[in-house]
Amino acid sequence: MKATSHVPASQKPRLANHSDTAATTGHDGHSQPTDHASAPAQSEARSEASEALRAERQRYVPRGVFTYHPVFPASGSGATITDTDGNTYLDFAGGIGTMNVGHSHPAVIAATQAQLELYCHTCAHVLMPPLYIELARRLTEITPGDFAKKTLLVNSGAEAVENAIKIARAATGRTAVIAFENSFHGRTNLALALTGKARPYRANFGPFAPDVHLVPYADPYHYGADGGPWRATLERFFSTRVAADQVAAMIVEPVQGEGGFIVPPADFLPTLRAICSQHGIVLIIDEVQTGFGRTGRMFAVEHSGVEPDLLLAAKSLAAGLPLAAVVGRAELMDAPLPGGLGGTYGGNPVACAAALAVIEVFEREGLVERAQRLGALALERMRDWQERFALIGDVRGLGAMAAMELVRDREQRAPAAAEAAALLAEARQRGLILIKAGLYDNVIRLLMPLVTTDEEMARGLEIIEASLAAVSAMSPAELEAAH
Ligand SMILES: Cc1ncc(COP(=O)(O)O)c(C=O)c1O
Repeated sequence: MKATSHVPASQKPRLANHSDTAATTGHDGHSQPTDHASAPAQSEARSEASEALRAERQRYVPRGVFTYHPVFPASGSGATITDTDGNTYLDFAGGIGTMNVGHSHPAVIAATQAQLELYCHTCAHVLMPPLYIELARRLTEITPGDFAKKTLLVNSGAEAVENAIKIARAATGRTAVIAFENSFHGRTNLALALTGKARPYRANFGPFAPDVHLVPYADPYHYGADGGPWRATLERFFSTRVAADQVAAMIVEPVQGEGGFIVPPADFLPTLRAICSQHGIVLIIDEVQTGFGRTGRMFAVEHSGVEPDLLLAAKSLAAGLPLAAVVGRAELMDAPLPGGLGGTYGGNPVACAAALAVIEVFEREGLVERAQRLGALALERMRDWQERFALIGDVRGLGAMAAMELVRDREQRAPAAAEAAALLAEARQRGLILIKAGLYDNVIRLLMPLVTTDEEMARGLEIIEASLAAVSAMSPAELEAAH
């Protein structure tokens, strides 16, 4: 492959060879202070073939399918991804929190290959794969709640969301649903009705499913330590809009993911639990992004002691194979009529094999504990940067769900969206894949695989630090050009 720029690809630095960019790592994994120049931006190798792929992507894939980085993956291993041009990146996006066990985990490969060689699919409505049943049981065992549970398997987070609402409506005979502003629950019509971000998710797609009502989430950075007026607004909603005993379900993320890693105050989830219990409302905890160890517990809701009626898992459940689950109280799960739940692919045995392998890997490799350590390393370093870079308005997170909100002005908290976009580009040029979040696209979020080593973590953080320094020094024109 021929490189398009002046330097042939073969002579360009491969981004993975970070001997020149690595932080000096202490035995505890904390990097020692280094000069910013230690992680310089490098030009990524680009071939004519990948330029052609970029053009074909423009031509054949709709613009609505947004992609953060113009990089095409060729292979992945653990916390790294190598692209079709041979550049290797540290991947701190992990398929937006899908690859918690890391890319190409040998146990997942072995389990899926073994199942593929036996058979690929029968459709659970025709012949139910034993692995469906085994996974259903395992999920009832590892989710919070000491009561009889059942599990429905589907293909995506949005589908789990849709089915949870169906189940709650069937079980309660009520229709109203409460969700939260700044939430994200997926891109299907009902999931969009529940999603609290107007652009780009909801724009141009209405009308949405009726009888869905959004109320404020608790947000300490933007509305004060108690999270703002969420409690009073909810009480007012019950008095003015829909009486509490008419509400079928309340769906909530224990930490808002796409919304910018908003960690609510400790009383938020217990209060919602109490309100739901008092009025017979089904409490649905959406753990699609927070689940599978990300926050330093298997499920984020465990931090609060709250037991959900229905819990939703997807993303890291099957290490990248399309699989999602609704796990919940047996009597609720049995409310829909036979045939009312399911779908052609739900609980595909290859995906179930992957999920069972993932659960084993979590136990064997202690990935929940690992999330605590990775999160601590990231948050400590981010807090240090906050003292040095005016750009960082807030640092927050739970376990390895760590983020920093970039602002132009700490007083007004004016979002620094262009800076966040430039930071992503700068980091990628230094060999690190990052993504953003937040209502104003100004939150840098970390979703690194939980198998990321201390050395990789230190290197990734070093790259972010160097990128922060580079972006902080940019003029408005440079910022515009940088992404
Ligand atoms: C909390 C949450 N719920 C639901 C979804 C939708 O999942 P999917 O994209 O698999 O439909 C997402 C996706 O990011 C999510 O973060």
